[in-house]
Amino acid sequence: MKHISSQPLLQAAILAIVFSAAGRAEQSSTVAVSKQELQAKIEYCKTCHGLSGQGFRGAFPMPRLAEQQPEYLENQLRAFIERRRTNPVMFNVAHVLSPSMVTALAAHFKDLNPKPLGGAPRELMAAGKTIYEDGLPGANVPPCASCHGPEAKGDGAFPRLAGQLHDYIFRKLVNWSRERGQDPAKPDTSAIMEPIAHGLTEPQIAAVAAYLSYLE
Ligand code: HEC
Ligand code: HEC
Repeated sequence: MKHISSQPLLQAAILAIVFSAAGRAEQSSTVAVSKQELQAKIEYCKTCHGLSGQGFRGAFPMPRLAEQQPEYLENQLRAFIERRRTNPVMFNVAHVLSPSMVTALAAHFKDLNPKPLGGAPRELMAAGKTIYEDGLPGANVPPCASCHGPEAKGDGAFPRLAGQLHDYIFRKLVNWSRERGQDPAKPDTSAIMEPIAHGLTEPQIAAVAAYLSYLE
């Protein structure tokens, strides 16, 4: 395993590869959204994602949006709209949003800072921390920290994972190639995570998800 000395450089290189294949992402519209419209949408998002965007466990886990990187959040809303990321609930929610509303919503959640919901088995955390910080050299899995940051706060298109619901993380990593990057004609940032998700066993995913879910 090569030592990764410069995280920002690595990230820039990876994104350059992805975007040269995909072409530039569309520019977001600059048309303003009224305060009332935005507030009404935010109230709607909270009915599923929790009052302070902390996530919520219903019939299935609704992910934490609080303190999420705006660029990542916007990328995901676009991916739902274009069905590159498949989820029937979020397609219905997202396809009615104007481009400027998508941008405004993405910026909103960055300022929320609730405590993590928790709920994962704590005895898995130590194993999860090791995977997060060192990766799995034998399975060609780089350290998660090299892209998601030492404290899992994310950066740009690299999502924050700290405080995310462990059961949500588990489902996303197990189902990665069935849900993300579903338009072969339009490759996106999900391609970066695909080999990594495949390189992890389910017990390893459960461990790293438990560790991340308690980080503030
Ligand atoms: C009816 C419930 C519901 C509502 C309302 C809702 N969401 Fe979601 N959202 C979900 C579910 C369920 C998921 C998880 C999808 C999956 O598992 O892939 C999700 C996922 C997301 C994701 C992906 C998060 C990630 O970490 O990748 C974003 C971004 C998102 N929602 C934003 C919003 C915004 C913004 C609103 C308000 C306009 C909103 N959602 C309203 C149920 C909802
Ligand atoms: C080479 C960079 C890189 C490494 C290393 C990496 N990731 Fe990722 N990860 C990404 C990118 C980019 C995304 C966003 C994918 C997208 O836009 O669909 C992502 C997304 C994710 C998501 C989805 C988050 C959500 O809210 O749905 C999870 C979970 C995740 N990574 C976990 C991990 C874990 C665990 C590791 C270590 C075993 C890891 N990642 C290592 C780049 C990386």
